Amino acid sequence: MNWRLRLPSWVKPAIWLLALAPLGSLIWALLNNDLGANPGEALIRNTGEWTLRMLCLVLAVTPLRRAFNAPSVVTVRRLLGLFVFFYATVHLLSYSALDMGLDVTAIAADIWKRPFITVGISAWMLLVALAVTSPKRVLKRMGAKRWLLLHKAVYVVAGLAVLHFLWMRSGKQDFADVWLYGIVLAALLLSRLVPKKGIGNWLLAVRGRP
Ligand code: HEM
Repeated sequence: MNWRLRLPSWVKPAIWLLALAPLGSLIWALLNNDLGANPGEALIRNTGEWTLRMLCLVLAVTPLRRAFNAPSVVTVRRLLGLFVFFYATVHLLSYSALDMGLDVTAIAADIWKRPFITVGISAWMLLVALAVTSPKRVLKRMGAKRWLLLHKAVYVVAGLAVLHFLWMRSGKQDFADVWLYGIVLAALLLSRLVPKKGIGNWLLAVRGRP
């Protein structure tokens, strides 16, 4: 017998609610003048961190699916992936509007001048490619092999995201949370090298012993 975890139907609506809650609380804090002395900077930084957190969540799906022998978990991966893109876009828009006054020439110059912005925009452009190719009909048109190869770019996004964070903090010598995210993301990527043995099957075997 094979042990399998099935996702209940409330999981997707719950993900929508939980994933939008941080944005809701940021908007609430902004409207109530509760984002500190520099609300623009707070908004840019918070949306950057939420992009990174969503990225950690999406990269946790495959290890969880393997550990708990739960193929159904994959159905939430696309949704979480779209939330990574969503928060990265809100982050980019906050920067463009609040830091750069929506001045396209100044933004282009900044992308050229500041390496951490160059790295950030590269990560965002990869996320655009992943988001537009995420629907099932695009997968069918591209063919599974090419689609899977393209979607491996999420690992590049993870590397660029940590590099962006590290570079941004380099002038401030404050790296504690950069290391934390770096270690979590590295662990999630390395976990893909662990052989595919379901914890569920292992539990079943242990329970079945006399
Ligand atoms: C996958 C894409 C991205 C991720 C994961 C990401 C993540 C982050 C993180 C974690 C921070 C630091 C937050 C903190 O200090 O607590 C940050 C800051 C920042 N990011 Fe991004 N970012 C991304 C893309 C971009 C893009 C596309 C831009 C602009 C073109 C950008 C511009 C900035 C700026 C201006 C800051 C704040 C710098 C400061 O306050 O000195 N980021 N980002």
